[in-house]
Amino acid sequence: MEFVTYEQEGFVGIVTINRPKALNALNSTVLEELEATFKAVDLDTTRCLILTGAGEKSFVAGADIGEMSTLTKAEGEAFGKKGNDVFRMIEIFPIPVIAAINGFALGGGCEISMSCDIRICSENAVFGQPEVGLGITPGFGGTQRLARLVGAGMAKQMIYTARNIKADEAYRIGLVNAVYPLEELIPAAKKMAAGIAANAPIAVRNCKKAINEGLQVDMDEAIVIEEKLFGDCFETEDQKAGMGNFLEKDKEKKLKVVPFQNK
Ligand code: CAA
Repeated sequence: MEFVTYEQEGFVGIVTINRPKALNALNSTVLEELEATFKAVDLDTTRCLILTGAGEKSFVAGADIGEMSTLTKAEGEAFGKKGNDVFRMIEIFPIPVIAAINGFALGGGCEISMSCDIRICSENAVFGQPEVGLGITPGFGGTQRLARLVGAGMAKQMIYTARNIKADEAYRIGLVNAVYPLEELIPAAKKMAAGIAANAPIAVRNCKKAINEGLQVDMDEAIVIEEKLFGDCFETEDQKAGMGNFLEKDKEKKLKVVPFQNK
């Protein structure tokens, strides 16, 4: 691949958008390579993903402005769909995805981070939806996911003013869960991913599904979704091993990572 790299460390996969000359901006090729990379993840051996950007300056500086500059109405809509399809695939990917935001997360960069399950960032991170300054709307989910994450009032302010915010403000409004010095960001992401990977993988997947699908429907339907996914867990070896360890009151065993099945 030209612009996306993938590394596997134990149960954790690290996807890096690697187009530093354009601050990791998302052109069509990057989007296609991201899709191919996620589709190639071995879900039998991978329990959590980290998504980050190459270099020390930028996570993703947005969709590629050069590529967008000459689009017609129909082509613009198709480009929006292309990004939306890839980001939706990330959002509903069976295993958790942690965005490790190591610098600029503007436009499509902020948007791709919002399609991930968890966002953590470095102190130099900058977030924003600058699109209206370019004469367009946020087109890779920004008008939808930002309001869901930080509330409609704050999302409208960020989108209408096109004003960028720094890491501390992103933390204050709940756009990111934690801020780290740059050199500590990837180690922190790996530590969090390893912690997730040490838990029962089917249970973790079912939690993701329950939260995502439950947020799309009213509470009466949502709790039924939860009940079914909760029930499914009782067919797994993980549930038997996990609860058995607790009931045996064997501290040694309790701390051990049981050999969780993955399917
Ligand atoms: N698209 C294409 N190229 C980009 C880019 C983008 N979004 N962002 C940066 N680059 C390129 C620059 O053109 C430059 O390339 P050259 O060296 O060939 O000139 C290179 O990356 C380095 O950028 P700068 O010289 O501008 O670096 P800087 O440190 O001075 O500024 C920045 C950094 C503030 C992030 C600035 O690059 C910038 O404002 N970039 C655009 C950010 C933006 O508006 N993003 C939203 C895009 S629209 C969108 O994403 C729509 C959507 O929702 C789908």
